[in-house]
Amino acid sequence: MIISNFDQTRFLSEYWQKKPCIIRGFIPDFVDPIDEHELAGLAQEEDIDSRVVSFKSNKWTATQGPFDDFTTVCVGAWTLLVQGVDRYIDEVDELTELVNFIPNWRLDDVMISFSNEGAGVGPHTDEYDVFIIQGKGERRWQVGLPDEYKESIPHPLLKQIEGFTPVIDEVLKPGDVVYIPPKHPHNGVALSDCINYSIGFRAPSSLEVLTGIIDENIIDPSSAVRYTDQQLLQLRNASTRSAAVDKKEIEIIKQQLFELLQSEQAEHAILQMLSRQSLPNDDEGISAYALEDVHSALSLGTTLARMTGVKPVYAADQDSEEYTFFIDGNRFSIIQALREPIEIILNNKQVVIGIDIDEDTLNWPEFISLVTELINAGYWVFLE
Ligand code: SIN
Ligand code: CO
Repeated sequence: MIISNFDQTRFLSEYWQKKPCIIRGFIPDFVDPIDEHELAGLAQEEDIDSRVVSFKSNKWTATQGPFDDFTTVCVGAWTLLVQGVDRYIDEVDELTELVNFIPNWRLDDVMISFSNEGAGVGPHTDEYDVFIIQGKGERRWQVGLPDEYKESIPHPLLKQIEGFTPVIDEVLKPGDVVYIPPKHPHNGVALSDCINYSIGFRAPSSLEVLTGIIDENIIDPSSAVRYTDQQLLQLRNASTRSAAVDKKEIEIIKQQLFELLQSEQAEHAILQMLSRQSLPNDDEGISAYALEDVHSALSLGTTLARMTGVKPVYAADQDSEEYTFFIDGNRFSIIQALREPIEIILNNKQVVIGIDIDEDTLNWPEFISLVTELINAGYWVFLE
């Protein structure tokens, strides 16, 4: 369960979603992209989700941010946890590229914690897969196997379990990683002031997908077929009572639902839902480019960079005339002929790009118009 030479294929077949492991030296010479002061700055922001968990005089306390004053909450052994930092700091977003063998749509966020010596959030389980990168300092990680653990709630905002038998008990140093699959109990205790980066993954339940499909509001109500029962006698035998619903009637309803889920609109609704990431709504600094500006930049040659946190999503198999992709709940499309250059942009953090506008094999005006739209939406920028 300790890997010293990380091999992606072996990791995916033996560990991902199955077994926890420690990956030693996953990031050689790791340098923290943030320090505790910057993290505290983020925890002061209204729209950033943060928490402080402390343990003092045998008592656990959890406080939800934002924080004006840390002195009253950061007492005893304490941990400051900030969610979604990958949406604000580009170097933190880049950490997610290290695990891009897991698809964008499964990524949730990067949560960063700072703990002082002896601190942790206590033993607990999560529903999600997580890679926890050790930044500065050292932390002892214990990880166990799934079981029926007794839950304890030492504070209304803190869920723990009463204890578990570790199958991993290791001290992590900067650049090491612990991978923890869902439902595996774990407990990290800081041996010195330390920073941890948790790259968390999501896995929607079928019920969440079903409600998500409706909430996305993509399916045109007039395309939904309505129940009919012209052959009522064949559906219900003569003795069926009026309050009873025949099994065949339920089958028809289920079949209609199944057909609805098979539609292209439902597929788009699923993709749109999977693309949602709650990117910050910050219009400041977004440039409004005219088509001509983008045209001349692209024909002169430039570098296009994907903005912090942006994780596009598209269906790998698409054979209709339009090629469609989604970013944070927004849908974009372009003619299939331009699929390849757009996919290169979608799949790389930075792309050096130069187009020969006179080459008439591709429909460049459409391409330029889409790139302009993506830049003006704040999803890409030109690098100077
Ligand atoms: C932490 O970074 O302190 C908590 C991470 C976790 O156990 O999920
Ligand atoms: Co956890």
